[in-house]
Amino acid sequence: MNKRLQYWLHCLQHPCYGLGRAIRKYRTKLLGLEYLGKNVDIRFPLHLGHPENISIGDNAVICEYVFIMAGKTAKIIIGNNVYIAPNVYITATAHSFDGEGLIMEQAGKEAGIYIGDDVLIGTKAVILDGRSIENKVIVGAGSVVTKNISHGIVVAGNPAVAVRSRGQAV
Ligand SMILES: CC(C)(COP(=O)(O)OP(=O)(O)OC[C@H]1O[C@@H](n2cnc3c(N)ncnc32)[C@H](O)[C@@H]1OP(=O)(O)O)[C@@H](O)C(=O)NCCC(=O)NCCS
Repeated sequence: MNKRLQYWLHCLQHPCYGLGRAIRKYRTKLLGLEYLGKNVDIRFPLHLGHPENISIGDNAVICEYVFIMAGKTAKIIIGNNVYIAPNVYITATAHSFDGEGLIMEQAGKEAGIYIGDDVLIGTKAVILDGRSIENKVIVGAGSVVTKNISHGIVVAGNPAVAVRSRGQAV
């Protein structure tokens, strides 16, 4: 996407420029998303793969340099009130390596990713395909999410493991 278009998209998303629903619809169409909720703050540059399979819920914040890569059939569903910090990578596709041929010639494999409501994904986190992150999860900066994460857990590290429950003082 060229810089001028990115600039206008950035302007359009602020309420003072907003014409509400019409703009949201226009933006959803322009980005090619399956669904875009209300009051979503999208900062550019943003990299989308198969945007027709990506849904983003209300009040989400998608910071700069985020990659959201859905598959041809694999969906990425992001809930309401989700904060995705800069440089996060969410990938619902991978190369299969079961055969001995060139990696480029092997079939892709894809499953999809689900992110619930009220979730924070810390900067530079990687969410791998097929994982599900339940509501109220916090993913630490630089974490690699290789397992499903249950409701209200704070995870960190590579591979991401629970460090505490959310709302629990240390
Ligand atoms: C994961 C996180 C939420 C934990 O916060 P916290 O509970 O205050 O964490 P603490 O500093 O008390 O650390 C708890 C433990 O987790 C470890 N830890 C914390 N963050 C970590 C991270 N990102 N990666 C690996 N380990 C981490 C600490 O080393 C500590 O380990 P120890 O108990 O063995 O000493 C926070 O560190 C983090 O990464 N936040 C995201 C920041 C971010 O990306 N901000 C941008 C968007 S707002």
